[in-house]
Amino acid sequence: MSNSTKINNKINSFNKIITVPGDKSLSIRWVLFSSMGQGKSKAFNLLLSEDVLTAINAVKKLGINVKLNKKFCTIFGNGPDGYNFKKNITINAKNSGTLGRLIMGILIDSPYEIKIIGDSSLSKRDFNRIAEPLRKFGAKIKLTKKGLPLTIKGNKNLHPIKYLEHKGSAQCKSSVIFAGLKTEGKTFIKAKKSRNHTELLCKHLNLPIKIKKTQNYDLIEINKARKIKPLHYKIPSDISSGAFFIVLTALSDNSKLLIKNVNINPSRIGIITILKKMGVNIKFKNKQKYKGEMIADIFVSSSKKLKAINCPSRLNSEAIDEFLTIFLVAAKANGVSYFKDISELNQKESPRLIWGSKILNKMGIKTITTGNSIKIFGNPNLRVNKKIIIKDYLKDHRVFMTSVIAALAFGGNWDIHNNDSIKTSFPTFLSIINELTK
Ligand code: S3P
Repeated sequence: MSNSTKINNKINSFNKIITVPGDKSLSIRWVLFSSMGQGKSKAFNLLLSEDVLTAINAVKKLGINVKLNKKFCTIFGNGPDGYNFKKNITINAKNSGTLGRLIMGILIDSPYEIKIIGDSSLSKRDFNRIAEPLRKFGAKIKLTKKGLPLTIKGNKNLHPIKYLEHKGSAQCKSSVIFAGLKTEGKTFIKAKKSRNHTELLCKHLNLPIKIKKTQNYDLIEINKARKIKPLHYKIPSDISSGAFFIVLTALSDNSKLLIKNVNINPSRIGIITILKKMGVNIKFKNKQKYKGEMIADIFVSSSKKLKAINCPSRLNSEAIDEFLTIFLVAAKANGVSYFKDISELNQKESPRLIWGSKILNKMGIKTITTGNSIKIFGNPNLRVNKKIIIKDYLKDHRVFMTSVIAALAFGGNWDIHNNDSIKTSFPTFLSIINELTK
C-alpha cells in the first residue's frame, strides 16, 4: 500500500453518526497511574495508538505486568514504590512528549540511572522545561543539548519544591504532580491553566492533592501518596480526534455530524468556544459526568457564514492541539483572523505554527506569521484548484490529518505523504474518512 494519500475531490454532503477513539491524554495517564496502583486496574476503550502502546511498553520495562486484548487492558500494579527493573534500562518514548515528560516525574526516585530516548521529532523537543523543576526535587538529569537522549537518576531523599508553571503546559504540571506524589512533604505548584486530567484522576483516586482555582492560575498542593488504588476506567473519546471531523463538517456543504461520547472537559474545549465565535453551529447533547470528567455527544452542522476571529489568548491552552484545523476555518472566514501568544505551537511534534501557515499558503491563503502569532486573511469563496504536496513535516500526525481535511473541504489535487503518521494518535482516521466519503 502506498504511504501517501491522494485526494482530488471535495467531499459530498454527509449526515452521519461517528465514534472516534479514546482520549490520548487520559489513556496515557491511565497507564501511568495504574502502573503505580495497588493491584489490578482495567480500562475499556483505551486508545490503541503508538503513543499509548509506547506508554504500555515503558511500564512493562519498569517491571509491570500488562495484558491487552481487543476489548480491554489490564495492568497489575505493585503500588507507588512497586517498579522492579534492572540497571541500565532504556525507555523509548518514540513520538510521545506526554509519556516522555510525565514518566520522568514518576522516575524521580529511581535507584538506577534510566536513559530516555525518542524518535527524530521528540529528539528535537524541549526537555529542559521538565528537567529544571525535577532537579530541584533532587533528581540527577543529564540532557543532550536541551533534550533527548537524556538520563535520569532518582533520589530517595527528595525535597518538595515550589514550582511556577507559566507556559500552560499540562505535561510539565503533571510531571511535577507525579514527582510530588513520590515526595515526603508539601509540593506547591502555581500552574497557568492547562488540561487538568491528572488532577481529576488524583481526586478520583483520593490522593493527597488540594487545588485552588484563581482566574489564570491553579494553585496545587500535593503530598506523598502512600497508597494508590487501582483505577477502573472507561476512556471517553478524544476531542482532539473529533476536531478534524468537526471542522470538516463546518466547512462542507449541507452536512451534519454527531460524534458520540466525547470528553468535553472544560480545559479541552477551546476549539468549540473558538468555532462558535466564528459562527459554527455546535451543540453538546446527552451531557454527563464520569469520574470527574465531562462527556457529551457533539453535534455540528455546515456553516454558511464564517466570521474571522481575534482569538483571546486565554483560549490557547484549551485549544492547543486543535489550532491547525482551526486555521482551516479561518481560511474560509470573512476577514482577517488573528491568533497570538502561540509560540508553544512551534514546540509540538513539528513546528506547527510554521506548518499551519505553509498549508494555508499552498492553498492560496495569505498569512503573516511571527514566532508567536499568525494573521490569516480569509476567503469565503476559497476553492483550491492546484496540485499540493505535503511532505517532510517530521511525520506530525496532526499535520497529516489537517491536510486531509483541507483537501476534502477545499478541493485541489493533493498528495499527502506519511499515512503511517496517524498511528501516533488516531490509527482509524482514514477509515472514518472513508466512511464519510462513501
Ligand atoms: C498534553 C499536553 C499538551 C498537548 C499534548 C498532550 C498532555 O502538551 O499538546 O498533546 O496530555 O498533557 P503541553 O503540555 O506541551 O502543552
